[in-house]
Amino acid sequence: MKKIMLTGDRPTGKLHVGHYVGSLRRRVELQNSGEYDDIFIMIADAQALTDNADNPEKVRQNIIEVALDYLACGLDPEKSTLLIQSQIPELCELSFYYMNLVTVSRLQRNPTVKSEIQMRNFEASIPVGFFTYPISQAADITAFKATTVPVGEDQMPMLEQTKEIVHKFNSVYGETLVDPKILLPDNQACLRLPGIDGKAKMSKSLNNCIYLSEEPEEIKKKVFSMFTDPNHIRIEDPGRLEGNTVFTYLDAFCRPEYFPEFLPEYANLDELKDHYKRGGLGDMKVKRFLNNVLQAELEPIRNRRKEFQKDIPAVYEILRKGSEKAEKAAAQTLKEVKAAMKINYFDDEELIRMQAAKYTEE
Ligand code: TRP
Repeated sequence: MKKIMLTGDRPTGKLHVGHYVGSLRRRVELQNSGEYDDIFIMIADAQALTDNADNPEKVRQNIIEVALDYLACGLDPEKSTLLIQSQIPELCELSFYYMNLVTVSRLQRNPTVKSEIQMRNFEASIPVGFFTYPISQAADITAFKATTVPVGEDQMPMLEQTKEIVHKFNSVYGETLVDPKILLPDNQACLRLPGIDGKAKMSKSLNNCIYLSEEPEEIKKKVFSMFTDPNHIRIEDPGRLEGNTVFTYLDAFCRPEYFPEFLPEYANLDELKDHYKRGGLGDMKVKRFLNNVLQAELEPIRNRRKEFQKDIPAVYEILRKGSEKAEKAAAQTLKEVKAAMKINYFDDEELIRMQAAKYTEE
């Protein structure tokens, strides 16, 4: 069986370091591993519209930002197909048929949908399109016959819902759809990188993100304002690592080679952590180190982004070509789906012959 990777993001803002460690970095590694026969990276504008119906301009403006962030991180259009979800009409058609395989109560139980309904104050009136977006996400994943879906932990319920749809479809209509596997970050800190304020979720409205395109001065300011251990007041005080954002970010970003480069008095992160726990290591020193680490990680990304920013029409062209290629793949799957459901009447010579026989006299 072919190895196919698919994943995507909603274009509601620039991507931040949480997106990076949660999925983007992994995608680029997998892309460059050469192990995949096909890679599809989707800008999920139609999904973004399910809770931004009154603000389509926000979604429209951010498509290019997400595309630039993708290219900046090293996604390479020669190796990965970058596409815009709304340009693949086959996804709607697949969703329409999958809707018959999912119950309202099952969608109501989807933990991601549940928490998003709360977050958006949708309790009183939930848009139907929003409510059913897990079904459309199943269409995204199955349309491209994805075997591997690298996403953050928050997407786990979406993958479970997709797998249920796949199993149901295959058991009702015969083996047709590919069962996808979720690929979570292997490092605990990357599963859900907190905001710089220590809050569980990074979000634009909380103003607690570090964006991939952030300028060096801004990164530094944000690192130095990071939440640490509120009881670690004097340098001699023992410090706590749990819930200490600076250490969570080091867990997510630090590479061994950064110690000789920026902090040679420690051999590795464990030594640094031990010293902090014991007491005698100040927050400023750790923050200075984290700032150096983040600057080193983000500089090449920011520079590559600036190169791509010089030719925006070329970026749209990459997306157009990618969407065209993606549509062909989705059209093939849709054809197979319709054949499995036997709603491919005009291709079904057997059906036409049988129906004719019914009305043949003698
Ligand atoms: N739901 C994802 C998010 O919120 C975006 C997305 C849409 C996606 N379709 C997908 C992710 C298919 C993985 C696979 O970011």
